[in-house]
Amino acid sequence: MEINGQRLIDDLRALREMTATPGNGVTRFSYSEEDGRARDYLARIADQYGFAMETDAVGNICIRPPGSKGRLIIGSHIDTVRNGGWLDGIYGVMSGMEVLRTFADSGVHTDAMLVIYAEEEGSGFGSTMTGSKFLTGKYKAEDLTALKDEEGRTLLAHLKECGYYREDVPLAMDLSGVDCALELHIEQGPVMDREHLQIGIVDTVFGMHVLEIEFSGLGNHAGASPMIGRRDSMSAFGEAILAIEKTAIDAGHGVVATIGKASVSPGGSNVIPDSVRFTVDIRSNDDGITGETVEQIRRCAMEIAERRGVECTIRDVADSSAIPFSRRIIEEMAALAEEQKLVYRVMDSGAVHDTAMLAPFTEAGMIFVPSINGRSHVPEENTNEDDLIRGTQFLMDYVSRKS
Ligand code: GLV
Ligand code: MN
Ligand code: MN
Repeated sequence: MEINGQRLIDDLRALREMTATPGNGVTRFSYSEEDGRARDYLARIADQYGFAMETDAVGNICIRPPGSKGRLIIGSHIDTVRNGGWLDGIYGVMSGMEVLRTFADSGVHTDAMLVIYAEEEGSGFGSTMTGSKFLTGKYKAEDLTALKDEEGRTLLAHLKECGYYREDVPLAMDLSGVDCALELHIEQGPVMDREHLQIGIVDTVFGMHVLEIEFSGLGNHAGASPMIGRRDSMSAFGEAILAIEKTAIDAGHGVVATIGKASVSPGGSNVIPDSVRFTVDIRSNDDGITGETVEQIRRCAMEIAERRGVECTIRDVADSSAIPFSRRIIEEMAALAEEQKLVYRVMDSGAVHDTAMLAPFTEAGMIFVPSINGRSHVPEENTNEDDLIRGTQFLMDYVSRKS
């Protein structure tokens, strides 16, 4: 069965327009107006094809063709980071929809269903893979009020406002009948582009730990306070940035650490800041090494703070383990790629993905297509159309053998 490649590209282009930052990449946060428009777009296709569409209380969506037992999930996300790219997540979602439509157009039964995981990026509430964490029980009802946006508004308040959270709707949908979960995604790194690969088959998804560190010093006048004797939280932050980078480099084993977000209080050119709060995202494919790096970063932040006479508080914002995917799926996908004479490789994923959250509960696997110049989470994120179409056809071929 052949997918309709042009239809896939047209969908992706239409969805690219649903952004809060026109002309500056795609910003489509979960539960925002743009997210609502993307959901409506999916609902229109589902309606046209007679697929059933269900949304649970945290905003995860399930789209199921008539008669499908929902044994096999094809899933990804539709939310983005701020000023992100047009393919991260939504490519896998529209590919899943394309696969379901191809089955329907060909009059062939499938037990597959499409799942759209809510709030994968953690752009709103600081924790990645929020929807799939609720689906797998890692997050429970009490986390609806523990997770808060930057203004301190709870996830529950957002869900009520969107109308997803209601007494008669399950917190998270029941996936007990599922025996396979798949996701197609852009690689988001440089390996496939550099090595001219067509298909990536994912071995292990990196584990990640996110810390929020706050240095609180003594706010004061920028002109009237001599350099000696200051308790400057910004200087502590400056030292910490380089120390954290060095800690990750010295750890080796592919460990990465990123400070992607910082806020300075009160934020005036003539005021020594009283506090600086920042996040550190630490990842590797080995939980032991990730854990040691996290501990080293904690110690190093405390030591810098003590030496500079500032307070240091550290909060664990999110964590997830490194997850190896099903050996059987990897072998089956590799055999299919060989058969189709595709240039492929089995590789790890430094980016996290919802399907990894499902892997402890069901057989799971992922397919990658190349990212041009390895760019992602930026407006320049892109993939050649041929690669996008090839990835979806590969997913189609694998699913049709499986369901
Ligand atoms: C999700 O995109 C992540 O890897 O942070
Ligand atoms: Mn993604
Ligand atoms: Mn992402």
